[in-house]
Amino acid sequence: MDIPFSRWYLAIEKRRSRRHFDPNLPIAPEALAALEKVCNQFAPFPHARSRLVTESTESVFKGIIGSYGKVKDAQAFIAFIGNMDDPFVQEEVGYTGEGIILEATALGLNTCWVGGFFRPEIVASLIEVSNKERVLAVTPVGYAREFESWEEKLMTGFGRSHNRLPLSKLVRGLPWEKWPDWVNICLEAARLAPSAANRQPWSFDVQDDGIIVFVRTRGPVFNVSKRLDCGIAMLHLEVAAVDSGCKGEWEFLPSPQVAKFKIRS
Ligand SMILES: Cc1cc2nc3c(=O)[nH]c(=O)nc-3n(C[C@H](O)[C@H](O)[C@H](O)COP(=O)(O)O)c2cc1C
Repeated sequence: MDIPFSRWYLAIEKRRSRRHFDPNLPIAPEALAALEKVCNQFAPFPHARSRLVTESTESVFKGIIGSYGKVKDAQAFIAFIGNMDDPFVQEEVGYTGEGIILEATALGLNTCWVGGFFRPEIVASLIEVSNKERVLAVTPVGYAREFESWEEKLMTGFGRSHNRLPLSKLVRGLPWEKWPDWVNICLEAARLAPSAANRQPWSFDVQDDGIIVFVRTRGPVFNVSKRLDCGIAMLHLEVAAVDSGCKGEWEFLPSPQVAKFKIRS
């Protein structure tokens, strides 16, 4: 499938995680059909896939403590699945899943990546998962309640979880005075990527012929791979780069590097 770059670029700023949904607002059938289509068609890597499920959402999500922090009243969820034989499965699932999340955002739906607080065994009972595959994350899908509940506000530290580190803390390489315009635009988009517990585990090395994404080593693990977060940032970076006229290809790299976006000359 061709990536709708401008549509997804606009969705980057609009997206934010929502955990409590409006139980009285069913997902519009056209939106559900469009989402199912993108889940089936946006599969740029053979070992990463997404499945939309419209049943049993309550039993899939766990609270952080008791029912505190639990996703509530979602109408559907999407499972992000990877084949663990692939050495880059985490990055590929992050990249693929974020495409689906941005399309959901563009369709007016709300989402929240959930990597820790869900029950993979229940997801696996609802969809086919081979013995080489794992459900690495899920997202609820639906229309969020108009106003955030107190619990949601507490969960996000009253909006602080949407804050991001400045680029000055994340970037090395070519000095910024020498950056072409597209570099700033795509690093800003990568900076806005969501990550588990908002840990933002990425850094970027700007070079003459492209940008390398690295994993920063500090910060907690939360049972979710930092490389999955970096895959999400890769999708943001590429969407913004192409939207501003700079095409390129990804080359996966060994740890602590993640991948290089090599510009096409
Ligand atoms: C891979 C991944 C896993 C996440 N897991 C959870 C989770 O288990 N529970 C949860 O409530 N939020 C989870 N989140 C959501 C993050 O907390 C959220 O994206 C981050 O705080 C940034 O906020 P924003 O998405 O509103 O920009 C996860 C996010 C990512 C990217």
